[in-house]
Amino acid sequence: MAIGVLDSANLNGGQKLAVKYFTAAVALFVAQILFGILAGLQYLMPEFLYNVLDFNVNRMVHINAMIVWMLFGFIGAVYWLIEDEAGIEVVGLKLGNLAFWLFTSAVTVVVVVYLFIQTGPGTDTTRWLINEGREYIEAPRWADIGIVVCMLIFFYNAAATFMKGRWSGISGVLVLDLVALAGLYLAGMFYVTNISVDQYWWWWVIHLWVEATWEVLVGCIMAWGLMKTLGARRKIVTTWLYIEVALMFGSGILGLGHHYFWIGTPEYWFSIGGFFSALEPIPLVAMVVHAVYDSGVHRFKNANHPALAWLIAHAFGNFFGAGVWGFMHTLPQINLYTHGTQWTSSHGHLAFFGAYATINIAVFYLAIQKWRGNVWMAGGLADNGWKWKWSLALLNIGVVGMTMALLIAGYEQSFIERAVGGSTWSGYFAAQTNPWFMQGMWWRQLFGWVTAAGVVLLVWDLVTIGRGETRAAEMPEVEAPEPGGAAATAGA
Ligand code: HEM
Ligand code: HEM
Ligand SMILES: [Fe+2]
Repeated sequence: MAIGVLDSANLNGGQKLAVKYFTAAVALFVAQILFGILAGLQYLMPEFLYNVLDFNVNRMVHINAMIVWMLFGFIGAVYWLIEDEAGIEVVGLKLGNLAFWLFTSAVTVVVVVYLFIQTGPGTDTTRWLINEGREYIEAPRWADIGIVVCMLIFFYNAAATFMKGRWSGISGVLVLDLVALAGLYLAGMFYVTNISVDQYWWWWVIHLWVEATWEVLVGCIMAWGLMKTLGARRKIVTTWLYIEVALMFGSGILGLGHHYFWIGTPEYWFSIGGFFSALEPIPLVAMVVHAVYDSGVHRFKNANHPALAWLIAHAFGNFFGAGVWGFMHTLPQINLYTHGTQWTSSHGHLAFFGAYATINIAVFYLAIQKWRGNVWMAGGLADNGWKWKWSLALLNIGVVGMTMALLIAGYEQSFIERAVGGSTWSGYFAAQTNPWFMQGMWWRQLFGWVTAAGVVLLVWDLVTIGRGETRAAEMPEVEAPEPGGAAATAGA
């Protein structure tokens, strides 16, 4: 097999399916950015595309594309590592392929309906066919059911493969996590007319996904990624994983209460939500220490520099975006002023990018490397690696720049609208027209373009990196789980 040439013969069955998921994920990532740019422009020019493609539609497509591309990336990542981890071929791969096409067509139809139909009367027909009206998971009911079916097939592939092959600590955590992840999605499907009750359950999906189940999922991917990029010892990554999972669930589950401050839920949520969510940064610190420790121990020796760089970006991005930016507004005394301002958006951008975009990109780089026959992807690349380095820089500078601009705007809103204006209408308008706010929106847009440039470069790099390279990479063999050892039985 030629090195440096894209050839599916380099991939095992699970990996062939994984690269389909990755390709769709990258396409949706581009769509996310496109619609983010449009929504941002509408802050600056409210007439722009008014009544053609309104802000609410652009915003919805922006964040739905984000959730779906990240989910595609995660599913792909599981298919990517499953055969190595289980030691056998994926069980029911044909069904898995079918689920991919079902899922992808459903997403396409949903987006086309979002764009061309956009609205409907407040009836069940709208809920079933157009839009369910729950932020981030607006997909209409028919698609919800389709997604659940696809997730069940995915779950079957994963569980059955490990059951037939072998378990490890990582796969045990992974499979249990997938049960929780799919189960939570169901919580967002109850239909109730009381808006407080509706929000109560809706947060189960949103918060418990990103602050519990997705975090555990990326913990598993990180554990595997560190073995793959650095040859880290399985015992070490598995031990860390257990500690992180315990801390994550310990703080994240009741941390849910930080969304129950102002939606009409009982007052005890102030204390519960404030206390437990304040603990949430702890596991994120553990994850940074873990990643940096492992890279240090292995003296950064590795043959896939972009993947390792993005794994490290994940460790820091997760800590700052989720941990620090989340902590800033999680106490009710502070959230009273910051709730629903651009401060929230500042945190939302840094957290989703820092925690989840980064690690997906790392896996894309691992995939392209193997797809090209385990090509060398470290020092002395044909183009000196300028593309991956610049896209890493532009993406991170872009998102951090947006985060800062939004934070300043949010700070101004908290101050002028809430503290001085007493949360009145006039306070609201005073905040929206304040120069600090308006300039913040311009800076956000400027850094949005920087981010977009980073994405363009990333796509270009992913299709070209390693092309024509003749050196092979000696990627570390992932250590097999000890048969019947602690790590193996813990997952069984
Ligand atoms: C990777 C993990 C995380 C992601 C992706 C994330 C993302 C988000 C997003 C998108 C929102 C806005 C939701 C909306 O539309 O209303 C939000 C809200 C919030 N997040 Fe996070 N978050 C994460 C972790 C955390 C952590 C660890 C904390 C606390 C330490 C935290 C505290 C909060 C709070 C208090 C709000 C409510 C803001 C408000 O009142 O407007 N988040 N988060
Ligand atoms: C081209 C760059 C981008 C621009 C111009 C942009 C713009 C926007 C705008 C205008 C909104 C609506 C905010 C509002 O309702 O007030 C938004 C929301 C959001 N964007 Fe972006 N975005 C960009 C990139 C990203 C990236 C890279 C991510 C994460 C990976 C992201 C995640 C989010 C999230 C989570 C929300 C919802 C925040 C909330 O509910 O508070 N965006 N974005
Ligand atoms: Fe939360």
